[in-house]
Amino acid sequence: MPVTGPASSPFPPGFFDRQDDSDDPAFYDSPRLVTHLDEPAIAAVSALYAELGVTGDVLDLMSSWVSHLPTPPRSLTVLGLNADELAANPMATCAVVHDLNADPALPFADSSFDAVLNCVSVDYLTRPVEVYAEVARVLRPGGVSVCTFSNRCFPTKAVRGWLTTDDPTHCAVVAQYHRTAGGFDEPVAEQRLDGRRSDPLWAVWARRS
Ligand SMILES: C[S@@+](CC[C@H](N)C(=O)[O-])C[C@H]1O[C@@H](n2cnc3c(N)ncnc32)[C@H](O)[C@@H]1O
Repeated sequence: MPVTGPASSPFPPGFFDRQDDSDDPAFYDSPRLVTHLDEPAIAAVSALYAELGVTGDVLDLMSSWVSHLPTPPRSLTVLGLNADELAANPMATCAVVHDLNADPALPFADSSFDAVLNCVSVDYLTRPVEVYAEVARVLRPGGVSVCTFSNRCFPTKAVRGWLTTDDPTHCAVVAQYHRTAGGFDEPVAEQRLDGRRSDPLWAVWARRS
């Protein structure tokens, strides 16, 4: 599926449809205290955060019990759908249960964070451009938005445009979410692990202009 489409939107009609469009909180009602990446891929996420200088006041979007940061930042706000998962996150200083598909507005003041993370979850967003416009709003100038993803997902909850495109296109899609949202420098996309000895890992990051 091409990433270009009608002039009004860079995403084709139906791109954000899902097989299971029922309320997300019900799907995430039971805590899943598991990891969604293998150890080398988690280490690669941590290494990327260190490389990009993710520190200070950090927001982990679509978070669970682990945020993969190499060291605790000054503050870590975790936002997700399962209160028990968020409460079990040892680095978190603040936990917020909030459904980004029901309400993409982030309940935080402008310029509150130095980094906003999204690990293995961007494929579940049905209104990602609105969410990334909010990410730009809550980031401080020079702050960084970092999205990492692999090749697994809960397919009934991932958007159709993700399930029907390949891995390099996923990078283009996430970069386009940032461009269309506005407020970011040109995004960078990289494959960080090729998947031969571990889960594959891709990353897209963009600095707040
Ligand atoms: C595959 S898990 C990833 C968790 C964590 N980021 C990690 O790296 O292990 C997907 C997470 O996305 C969150 N999530 C899914 N849909 C969401 C939504 N509509 N709004 C906010 N969070 C959501 C869930 O709470 C769940 O913990």
